[in-house]
Amino acid sequence: MKFFVDTAEVSEIRALAEAGLVDGVTTNPSLIAKSGRRMAEVIAEICAITPGPVSAEVTATDFETMLAEGRYLRGIAPNVAVKVPLTEAGLRTCRALAEEGTPVNVTLCFSPAQALLAAKAGAAFISPFVGRLDDISTDGMGLIADIVQIYRNYPNLKTEVLVASVRHPVHLVQAAKLGAHVATLPPAVIKQLLRHPLTDSGLSAFLADWKKTGQSIL
Ligand code: G3P
Repeated sequence: MKFFVDTAEVSEIRALAEAGLVDGVTTNPSLIAKSGRRMAEVIAEICAITPGPVSAEVTATDFETMLAEGRYLRGIAPNVAVKVPLTEAGLRTCRALAEEGTPVNVTLCFSPAQALLAAKAGAAFISPFVGRLDDISTDGMGLIADIVQIYRNYPNLKTEVLVASVRHPVHLVQAAKLGAHVATLPPAVIKQLLRHPLTDSGLSAFLADWKKTGQSIL
């Protein structure tokens, strides 16, 4: 499973990349706004430190302008993946960019039908938002299960399931069990993944017993 980081904060990406935990990055207009930086500048900097795809989202809503924005974003760096919303204009833009060889991440997906349309439009990634479905008492991971099942029925579909809007480590584990290709994780969730109180207490006990021996390995 690939781990993408869901942030536009370069310092957070750099720290996680140095730990080998970053296969890609996803941003969105809200994350760019939160960074307080110019979009082209921050996307270029993220691309320079990220080994894999970096999603940069268009902000227009009409096909012609979305396509122009997508081509501009793609020109920032060779590892830019253009993000488009799951709308009619967004799918048209996805098809056009995919035919030009640009990887497209279709975002704001909330139903299996939407995911099937995105795959037919040639999306490289589909981003179902599990946390936002959970937030309204709907089974977000159920959507992932449906999409994975549908895509598996049609091997000609090459779209990767990129689980987004991840709120906690259980979402990640469930997504991995379902066979999703990618999860995009807030930095805080990545840090939560490795923590377990029994690991901490077990290590403390080992070190306390070792100290009693008076030995040192080196
Ligand atoms: O960036 C796409 C998605 O991960 C955003 O999730 O619901 O935390 O804003 P959310």
